[in-house]
Amino acid sequence: MLGRQPALGMAELERTFGDVTWFTDSAACVMADSFDVTRLGGTLKAGVVTGELSGDWRRASEHIVKYYSNKWGNFEGKLTLGISAYGFKVQTRDIQKTGVILKQRLRAKKVSMRLIPNVDAAHNTATSHHNKLGLAPNKVELLIVRNKSGKVIIAESVGAQNITALAARDQGRPKRDAFVGMLPPKLAQTMVNLALSASGSRNLSPAELPPSTAPAVTSEAGETVPKTGNHSDITILDPFCGTGVILQEAALLGYNVYGTDLADKMVDYSKVNMDWLSTKYNTSRTYKIEVGDAMDTKWQQPIDAVVCEGYLGQPFSAPPSPAKLTEVRGNCDHIMGKFLTNIGAQLKSGTPLCVAIPAWRSTDGSFTHLPLVDNLAKLGYKQIELKNVRTAELLYYREDQVVARELLILEKI
Ligand SMILES: C[S@@+](CC[C@H](N)C(=O)[O-])C[C@H]1O[C@@H](n2cnc3c(N)ncnc32)[C@H](O)[C@@H]1O
Repeated sequence: MLGRQPALGMAELERTFGDVTWFTDSAACVMADSFDVTRLGGTLKAGVVTGELSGDWRRASEHIVKYYSNKWGNFEGKLTLGISAYGFKVQTRDIQKTGVILKQRLRAKKVSMRLIPNVDAAHNTATSHHNKLGLAPNKVELLIVRNKSGKVIIAESVGAQNITALAARDQGRPKRDAFVGMLPPKLAQTMVNLALSASGSRNLSPAELPPSTAPAVTSEAGETVPKTGNHSDITILDPFCGTGVILQEAALLGYNVYGTDLADKMVDYSKVNMDWLSTKYNTSRTYKIEVGDAMDTKWQQPIDAVVCEGYLGQPFSAPPSPAKLTEVRGNCDHIMGKFLTNIGAQLKSGTPLCVAIPAWRSTDGSFTHLPLVDNLAKLGYKQIELKNVRTAELLYYREDQVVARELLILEKI
C-alpha cells in the first residue's frame, strides 16, 4: 500500500525491486524474496499474498473465514487480528462482521482472538504500527485489496511504516532549521532508494544492493530503524546537506556518508545531528562533513552516488508574481546547473544521482520547472526512465506548498 504520493512510492519500489506492477492506483505488486517496509519511505504497509479471487466483499469474506478458521484452527496462544479492506463498496460494519464470524469459528476450536475494531474500512498506519501488526506470528493484519476490474488480493501484513521512529528522527534531532526547509525523513529514504537501484549503477555489485535481510537496529527508546546490508564501501555524497536529513537516512540504511554545504552553520548542524544519530542508534559509520560551494568544490573520492535536495530558492506562501518567479527560477537554475557541471566532471560514468530541484505550483495546479530539466543530456546526464511512473510525476509537495520538489533520477554519462 503506497503513501500519499503513490507515484513516488511506486518509483522507489521499481528502483529497489525491478519487478513491480500497479494493482490499484495506490497499491503495487512486488516480486521479492524479502521485504522490509522500514527501508522504504513511500510504502505504508506491505503483505505477503495468500489468496486471489474475483468478486465483491461477500466473496472475499467467505474466503477469509474459510481459509483462516482452517489455518489458525490449532493456533497456540492469543491472536490479534486487524482487517483492512481497500477498494470495496461496503459498509465498515460488514468488514467488522467478517472478523466477528471468524472469531466465533476460532472460539469453537478453542482459539482466542482479539479483533481490532474498524473505525474505517482500512486501519490507518498508526493503528497497524501501534498494535505491531505483521511483526509477530500472533499479530496479524489482513490487507484485502480490490481493483477496478473486480480482482481481489488477500495478503498478510509484514509490517507498517514505523511512524514513531520516523517522528523521533525528524523531531528529536538536536538541530533543526525551518528556514532551509528540512526534508521529511521518509522522502530522504525514498531519494536514497531512487538513486541506488537494484538494476542500476555499474559501481555496485549485486551483493551490495538492497534489499537485505540484516537485522534492524533499535534505539534505547525501542524505536526500530532500518539497518540493512553492508553498504559500508558505498559512499553517498550530499553536496547541499543542510541539517543532514539525507546523511542521516543514508547512514541508517547502512551507507557511508559525505556531506558538504556552503554555510558553516549548516555544516555544524549536520555534524551535531550525525553525532546524535550515532549515539542514539549506535550507528558506527564514519562520515565526513565539510564546508564547500557546490558550484566549485573539488570533493574527495570515492563518490559512489549523489543524493541531495539542492537550492530551492525562497519559500512562498502564495504563487509569486511572474517577475519574481522569473528571478527565482533563474537563480536556482544557475546554481543547480553550475553544480551539475562541476560535479559531473568528478563522477565516474554510470554514477547514480537523485537530485531534488524546485518546481513552482501555480493556482491552476500546473508547474513551472527549471530550464535545466530540458538540458540534462547537454550537462552530461541520462535521465532514468521508469516503466510504471512518468518522470513528470516525480514531484513531492503538500497541498499548501507553492515550491514543490522535483526529483531527478540521473546517471552520469
Ligand atoms: C533546501 S536546503 C537542504 C536541506 C537539507 N536537505 C536538510 O535536510 O536540512 C539547501 C541547502 O543548500 C545550501 N546551499 C545553497 N547554495 C549552496 C551552494 N552553492 N553550495 C552548497 N550549498 C549550498 C544551503 O545552505 C542549504 O543548507
